[in-house]
Amino acid sequence: MPSSPSQQRLERLIEVNRLVSGALDSKELLSTILTAICDLFDAEGCSLLTVEPRTGELIFHTIKGGSEELLETKLQPDQGIVGWVVTNKESVIVNDPAKDPRFYSGIDQKADFQTRSILCAPMELQGEILGAIEAINSRRPEGFGAEDLRLLEAFASQASVALRNAQTHARVTMEKDAYRQELDSQFRSIIGSSKAIREVIDLAQRVARTKSTVLLRGESGTGKEVFARAIHNWSPRSEKPMMVVNSVALSPELLESELFGHEKGSFTGAIAQKKGKFEIADGGSVFLDEIGDIGANIQTKLLRVLQEHEFERVGGTTSIKSDIRVIAATNRDLEKAVSENKFREDLYYRLNVVTLVLPPLRDRLEDIHELVPFFVKKATQDLGIPPVEVSEEAIEKLMTYHWPGNVRQLSNVVERAVVLAQDESLGPDDFQLEQGKPIQSEDPIEELPLSEAVDEFKIRLVRRALRLERGNQTKAAKRLGIQQPNLSRMMKNLDIRVGE
Ligand SMILES: Nc1ncnc2c1ncn2[C@@H]1O[C@H](COP(=O)(O)OP(=O)(O)OP(=O)(O)O)[C@@H](O)[C@H]1O
Ligand SMILES: [Mg+2]
Repeated sequence: MPSSPSQQRLERLIEVNRLVSGALDSKELLSTILTAICDLFDAEGCSLLTVEPRTGELIFHTIKGGSEELLETKLQPDQGIVGWVVTNKESVIVNDPAKDPRFYSGIDQKADFQTRSILCAPMELQGEILGAIEAINSRRPEGFGAEDLRLLEAFASQASVALRNAQTHARVTMEKDAYRQELDSQFRSIIGSSKAIREVIDLAQRVARTKSTVLLRGESGTGKEVFARAIHNWSPRSEKPMMVVNSVALSPELLESELFGHEKGSFTGAIAQKKGKFEIADGGSVFLDEIGDIGANIQTKLLRVLQEHEFERVGGTTSIKSDIRVIAATNRDLEKAVSENKFREDLYYRLNVVTLVLPPLRDRLEDIHELVPFFVKKATQDLGIPPVEVSEEAIEKLMTYHWPGNVRQLSNVVERAVVLAQDESLGPDDFQLEQGKPIQSEDPIEELPLSEAVDEFKIRLVRRALRLERGNQTKAAKRLGIQQPNLSRMMKNLDIRVGE
């Protein structure tokens, strides 16, 4: 038996209800609801208006079958039938609007339209008026009827839920974007757009999303700590703390207690129980700086943390579980330390899941263009002095230097120049570069005997390719345009190790 018209309408309402409860982006859904309304009420057009919370004005939110231009239109709370509905929280049928004193003809004029009948119901959620839905111009000769009104009320209450979802969704998205932007600007402190640094940033961002252990390698002052912080802040753990532990700053005993905590009385001076950084960082990250310098005892305990996420406090017997992400950094030759039995091989592999090799500044000199203004701005802000300009000649001079101390050294040189600046523009002479002996690998190869010069040149090219490809030999070989076995052979002959 075919279902009756009112049964069909009820089914339609249930269908809409089902959609409402499942929808995430409800703007689409509101549009669907209005289409359904036009359809079911044989109406020429439908619209949904929302109340602007601050002013009480009514704004067209979604329109079907009518003039889209109305989306820009605002109604005062006391204007029109819809204003009355919202103010009185009551639904109405008006089949002869011209005779109704509440009717406001301004909209018709604007939309070049003639309203012949209106069906309008308020949208209410938990006592709060969100807006109203109206159906305009019934195509049926008798106009809108009482059953229409009841059904529209039911639709309006479904639409209220959808509207609230849409509003919440929009707000959350906006807040999330704003938060992201703030975070990004905070960690825009990774300055540089050279290919070399962009590759590392890209990998860092990708690995940040995972829980994988990350090993940061690179010379002193290349930004290992900067990257460790950025990875934590880009990660889903960013709301939780990142605890930093510097292995060289502490004696082995203190380092152990710093990492794992201790029980009261476990050693002289342990006057109370203390939580270690692994425990405090639960849900967050631990940054193990200078990992290459830790002693054998702690290496063993660290291995267990990485394998089983478990440890005991110093002097304690109960195992503590902690959900942490480990980020480690070193400028040591870990492979050499492993071969000399100074660093556990199994720990080395555990740490070496994802390795980021930070390029030295001399391999990305173009970044000096961005780094210098960044450090100048930072220095003037820290010192509370007016902004200072840097001349192009000065930047060019800085680009000819070999930067043994990398970004840290550049930052110091710039800071010194800003402090000593005589006027608001810095020229080449304002930057003091130490003219000590450049590091070995930067000696001009022209001075060397031919065979040595050739070797040295090869060494530099191979090292650079390895750095740019983060130690990946297959990719480095491709970059150099040679076969991978040839690269291996060259590395062996020239004594080049990954990560150098
Ligand atoms: N890409 C970068 N953008 C902005 N600042 C940077 C960048 N890289 C490094 N720095 C700055 O350079 C200095 C050194 O960076 P960081 O401490 O991260 O280096 P590191 O690799 O940990 O050095 P070390 O091995 O000596 O501990 C810091 O002042 C940092 O702010
Ligand atoms: Mg460091």
